[in-house]
Amino acid sequence: MTDSSVDPAVSLLPWPARIEIQNETVRLGAGFAFELPAGYEYLVGAAGRAGGQGDFPVRVRVRDAASVLPQLGQDESYTLLVSRDGAELEAATQWGAMHGLTTLVQLQQEGWAPCCRIEDTPRFAWRGLMLDPARHFLSIETLHRVLDGMALMKLNVLHLHLTDDQGFRFESLRYPRLASEQHYSQVELRKLVDKAARRGIRVVPEFDMPGHVTSWLTAYPEWGSRPVAATDRFGVHDGCLNPASEEVYQAVGALLKECVQVFPDVYLHMGGDEVSGRWWREDPGVETLMRREGLADTAAVQAYFNTRVANQLALLGRRLIAWDEVLNGTAPEGCLIQSWRGATARDRALAAGHDCIVSSGYYLDLHYPADVHHAYDPGASSAALLAAEDALLDDPRLAHVADGMRWTSAWREAARGEVKAAVLGAEACLWSELVTDEILDPRLWSRLPAVADRFWSAAEVRDTNSLYRRLENMLDVLDQERVARVTEISDALLLRAGVLEHQLPLVRLLEPVKWYGRLLGEVALKARIEGREMPQARPYKVSTPLDRPVDALLPESLAAREFVAAIEDPQAFTTPLTRWRDIAGGNDWLEELQPSADALGVVFEALLDVFGGADVQAARERVTAVAEPQGEYILAVVIPVLDWLDTQ
Ligand code: ACM
Repeated sequence: MTDSSVDPAVSLLPWPARIEIQNETVRLGAGFAFELPAGYEYLVGAAGRAGGQGDFPVRVRVRDAASVLPQLGQDESYTLLVSRDGAELEAATQWGAMHGLTTLVQLQQEGWAPCCRIEDTPRFAWRGLMLDPARHFLSIETLHRVLDGMALMKLNVLHLHLTDDQGFRFESLRYPRLASEQHYSQVELRKLVDKAARRGIRVVPEFDMPGHVTSWLTAYPEWGSRPVAATDRFGVHDGCLNPASEEVYQAVGALLKECVQVFPDVYLHMGGDEVSGRWWREDPGVETLMRREGLADTAAVQAYFNTRVANQLALLGRRLIAWDEVLNGTAPEGCLIQSWRGATARDRALAAGHDCIVSSGYYLDLHYPADVHHAYDPGASSAALLAAEDALLDDPRLAHVADGMRWTSAWREAARGEVKAAVLGAEACLWSELVTDEILDPRLWSRLPAVADRFWSAAEVRDTNSLYRRLENMLDVLDQERVARVTEISDALLLRAGVLEHQLPLVRLLEPVKWYGRLLGEVALKARIEGREMPQARPYKVSTPLDRPVDALLPESLAAREFVAAIEDPQAFTTPLTRWRDIAGGNDWLEELQPSADALGVVFEALLDVFGGADVQAARERVTAVAEPQGEYILAVVIPVLDWLDTQ
């Protein structure tokens, strides 16, 4: 077994570049006995369950120690040989050795491992996760846990979106009024960076500017064009830093100077997304600036602002990252672009000579199924990326939001010219409008392994069944490592939200509606689809409690996959399904779940009828009738059940 074909007996995630599995398994007994070079003993802990109390010898060799701090492009390759005599792990750097250890940990199954030889190296050098503690704060303990999980799936960049309209989470000693009540102290962040570095993970901070700065302006109103109140609503805000104010550049410079003292990575993210421009158009000071500098429009004003900030960062020895909107004007030279507004943003960056990291396709807050993210390849051709986007519009699981998604085709803008730069990698993003510390685990880990697989493994690793098998194994690893108990936490939160114990198996078959369906709400969604100005009113704001069943659900129901497998054996499934039908028909449901329970009842009843020999077409019509969302809930089982009925 070689290269990228995936052996069902092995559940490695990400899948290695090259693996040869012998026809022999070896007993690990009580576990591993590690022989590590002096100074690297900590790698065993970073690799998790490896334990180290056993007697199966694992000899680890690190050829050239890398610097203490991980860097973009570091050698992360390793070679792992498992034989009857023990395991030999060789890597160029300590980071490669750690990856080899996480692979070894995943190879063992109930005290056995296959004899094998693995030669592994990542496909992309930048394999990131962006978290947004600005909208809802995420505790520092949570971030530490996230690092543990990232290391297990070989992710190597934690991008922290530290500031936004609703919150400022960095302790500035120079501007003490900036930090929100809940924030990270510099000491806490330094410790986080240290822990990350020991796992080969770079921490990249983002200070989003010149838009998304309401929290800055409530503390220092003189940095904007007009007074602004604190906000707890979501969506684009008008508040902007004043690009005509020298005081603003001084403040930004001082802030960035503090930032680079805490975050040693060479990259620093300055945001740049969703700048409203309205204040600038109405500010006589900005008008004067535009005349003086020959700036034609607000995109040019933003480009001027970006260049001033980029120059300051260059003096601090740092390189700039920004969201793809900075391509609307001339982006600063050498600026790394993070593409998020669809497939073409990547190619516009590359054609403009900017290296790129890809995030469109990896927004975990959209509640998409894992295979959707996995099918989107950061390195695919332009045509293949556009086809992957178009495929979303035809995906029956996303049909309820297809009209909204179609709106984003307005972002499509063909790249002009040759590719003059490289895709360095990609980042998953979990925006936190609808995420809190408490519900992070079901929201994050349920699909992150699929993305990690895509960022590391060969483009040819595409098999969906293998993906889900390996993803579920990774959820077990996360559980055993005490990083996250995804399904248990989801269940516990559902019970706390008022779901009754006997209803759990049914509620696990529900999912939250996809895309921005929940966040926008029906009225704003309709306006967006129809191209009208969206009303500001939304169903959610920062203070809205996220304690309902819809908040506790897995974004993609894993139970639905088991349900679909069970249908294949009607005889065995009839008894449990009859019980579930009765539970669905019970009178003890929470009001907001009643329509979903009724709809599930319809699906169960229709299946039972077909099991009993009833007309398939009639059953199909009954199930189709409950395919639409019930409020913020959808029935994950409807589409696979319809598919199954089609085969009957
Ligand atoms: C973004 O999603 N506003 C970068």
